[in-house]
Amino acid sequence: MRLRIPPGVHRPRSDTWLLARAIHDTDLTGATVADLCTGSGALAIAAAQARAARVVATDTSWRAVLAARLNAALNRCAVEVRRGDLLGALGDDRFDLLVSNPPYVPASTDALPQHRSSTPLDGGRDGRALLDRVCREARNHLRPGGSLLLVQSSVCGERETCGLLEAHGMSAEVHARRRGPLGPVLRSRAAKLRARGLLGDADEEDLLVIRGRLAA
Ligand SMILES: C[S@@+](CC[C@H](N)C(=O)[O-])C[C@H]1O[C@@H](n2cnc3c(N)ncnc32)[C@H](O)[C@@H]1O
Repeated sequence: MRLRIPPGVHRPRSDTWLLARAIHDTDLTGATVADLCTGSGALAIAAAQARAARVVATDTSWRAVLAARLNAALNRCAVEVRRGDLLGALGDDRFDLLVSNPPYVPASTDALPQHRSSTPLDGGRDGRALLDRVCREARNHLRPGGSLLLVQSSVCGERETCGLLEAHGMSAEVHARRRGPLGPVLRSRAAKLRARGLLGDADEEDLLVIRGRLAA
């Protein structure tokens, strides 16, 4: 995949590529896919390359929207990129698969980064502000039998995500788990997160791809 990452647009990291692998593992032939919080468009492009029939991508940042359009064109992929807030940007559309790598790093405040932020990673004090919204609202944008693939850190709660998906009528399971050192932003906040009980003694986290499924 060829990607241009302009200033102010999130550069894909290991969590992006873990989710991209999960997308490639899924048979998307003829499927419709939406990528929420698309950034550079990497995950939307991964879905298009996995033979999805239609791919929509959303982001609140105009820079990200323009970067995702550019990158889709560079990779000769048809991706409809919309500027808008999470699932709200999807209107009444329903999809076979929703994918997302939302901002999920626990921060010192619940204020979410503005769309011009160059580090669009903060997910509120517990890191769950956007994760929770995706878990609550996903089923309203899924076709029967459809799935959500969400990537997050274990630091912001595996059980919380699975529990919330189940509370909203979906089954939930961990599709992929990769143990590794804390990412640079989490590492820089480790002392404060430990003081708040959000992080144990280990300097490691699990990156998780969680799959939620809506019954057919
Ligand atoms: C962690 S980056 C992930 C980008 C890309 N999906 C990847 O994996 O490389 C999060 C993205 O979410 C976008 N974002 C933040 N809040 C959003 C919201 N409420 N709705 C849609 N996108 C949002 C940011 O602009 C940023 O591009």
